[in-house]
Amino acid sequence: MRVSRFAGLLGAILLAACAGEYPQSSIAPTTDFADRIQDLYFQIFLWSMGILAVVWIVLAWILVRFRERPDGPEPQQIHGHLGFEIAWTIVPALIVVAIAIPTIQATFDTQTPDPDAMVVDVIGHQYWWEFRYPEIGEYRTANELHLPVGQPIALRIWSTDVIHSFWVPQLGGKRDANPLRAVPSGEERKYNWIFMTPRETGVFMGQCAEFCGPSHSLMGMRVVVETPEEFEAWIAAWDAGHGEPAAADPRAALIELGRETFQSGLGGCIACHAIEGTNAQGAVGPNLTLLGRRSMIAAGWLENTEENLVRWITAPQDVKPGALMPGVNDTGGGFPATNFTEEQVRAVAAYLSSLR
Ligand code: CUA
Repeated sequence: MRVSRFAGLLGAILLAACAGEYPQSSIAPTTDFADRIQDLYFQIFLWSMGILAVVWIVLAWILVRFRERPDGPEPQQIHGHLGFEIAWTIVPALIVVAIAIPTIQATFDTQTPDPDAMVVDVIGHQYWWEFRYPEIGEYRTANELHLPVGQPIALRIWSTDVIHSFWVPQLGGKRDANPLRAVPSGEERKYNWIFMTPRETGVFMGQCAEFCGPSHSLMGMRVVVETPEEFEAWIAAWDAGHGEPAAADPRAALIELGRETFQSGLGGCIACHAIEGTNAQGAVGPNLTLLGRRSMIAAGWLENTEENLVRWITAPQDVKPGALMPGVNDTGGGFPATNFTEEQVRAVAAYLSSLR
């Protein structure tokens, strides 16, 4: 037990030394909310270290002071000590209170939204994340959340199926995404919220943190915190003629074939997916507008390359078991196989990559 405590301490110190190199580090906060959690973490860590030091010093003293000596007398036989019993009940209780007070304060403080906070919907699906910007317009995106740095944010978190949990460690603690349908009469009450203001630009990785099915571990996401100008440019790209292939692309013919294949309803893509500015307005699957700009596909699981898009479109079940998307030859989520030819798959991948 003592060895494992020491190993834990050593491990914590070693990990702390490497904080910057791990993309999902929970000890490299970049928001006010994450700072509060970090403060608490270190407070509790210090208490633990203090307790550990006291226990070890007393233990060492007892081992030396009361060690067995040759020809020593038989030790005094004692059972129970009222003073000690009271002390080691009260002292830990006081320590727990000392930890509980700042914890409860932080819990309530971080539940108070900034009056200027921008609401962003975070919606868990099996096995991907949807993000909406109700205060800006009809903007829906998937798996890659864009936020302007310095802007207070209110993440309104819910789910359309089972319980998921939104966790981007560098932005703050996790929050469950609860299905609203469980309480039809009081839906408002089931939202969970995270209030925070990102203070650093960068790409922060996150992960679903509540077991939600066979592909729970493959339900990642990224948060792109960018300058307000970059954020506005991203929003503007939605309003611009997105969804149109770049005319100068040398593979314009392939992209055009992909566009036709996708938009014609062949394979059923548009039954589930939306691309703004086109007739694809499905709402079941991830919104694919500006897909070419995302760094990852399949909810943070595959790098966004055409090769991986081909792999995903061909056989999503091989990449993410249980995904509600059919492949070329497989049904998925009860939807029929697309029966795309190899060329059609490559064309659709090229078209989606061109959406940038
Ligand atoms: Cu969604 Cu685990």
